[in-house]
Amino acid sequence: MTMSSQTIEPRHFRDVMGHLPTGVVVVAGREVGTGKPAGLIVGTFQSLSLDPALVTFSVARTSSSWPKIRPAEYFSASVLADGQNDVCRALSSKTDDKFAAVDWHESADGTPKISGAHAWIDCRTVQELEGGDHVIVIAEVLRLDSGGGQPLVFHRGKLGGYRTLQL
Ligand SMILES: Cc1cc2nc3c(=O)[nH]c(=O)nc-3n(C[C@H](O)[C@H](O)[C@H](O)COP(=O)(O)O)c2cc1C
Repeated sequence: MTMSSQTIEPRHFRDVMGHLPTGVVVVAGREVGTGKPAGLIVGTFQSLSLDPALVTFSVARTSSSWPKIRPAEYFSASVLADGQNDVCRALSSKTDDKFAAVDWHESADGTPKISGAHAWIDCRTVQELEGGDHVIVIAEVLRLDSGGGQPLVFHRGKLGGYRTLQL
C-alpha cells in the first residue's frame, strides 16, 4: 500500500509552521572590503552541539546580506529582547543602510552586537550545507553572554512578548 502525501503549497506550509514560536535573532558581521555592518533577522537560530559548541541557522539563497558577511567567517548573533521590534523591522528590511537607526557595539572580533539584546553569541562559520532554497549554516561558538529581561518572540506572523509559564 502506498501512502499519499499532501501537495505542500508554500503559503500553507509557512502558515502552519508559523504556529511554532521562535526567538528573533540578528546575525551580523562586517562586509569585507568596506567594513560596513551587514546583517539579517533569522528565526531559525538554535544550538546544534554541546561539545564542540556549535550553533546553526538557515539563510535563504536570495539573501543579499549573508554573501556580504560569509567571506569574513566571523559574525555575532544577538537574541533580541522584548520591545526591540524596531530592530527586527529594520534588519528584516531590504534597505541599503539597515544599521543606520540601530544601536550596536563591537564584539572582540569587531562584529556588530545589538545593544540591549537578550543574549549574544559570537561565532565563526565552519560549514554550509544544502537545504533546498536555503543554506544551513553551522558555526562554532567563540564566546557568549546573556543580558536581562525577556526575549522577543515571533508567532503566527506577529512579534510579541514571552509569558513565563507557571509549571
Ligand atoms: C521573525 C523573522 C524571522 C526570519 N527568519 C529568517 C531565517 O531564518 N532565514 C532567512 O533567510 N530569512 C529569515 N527572515 C527574513 C529575513 O530577515 C529578510 O528576508 C531579510 O530582508 C533578508 O535581508 P537580506 O536580503 O538583506 O539578507 C526572517 C524574518 C523575520 C521577520
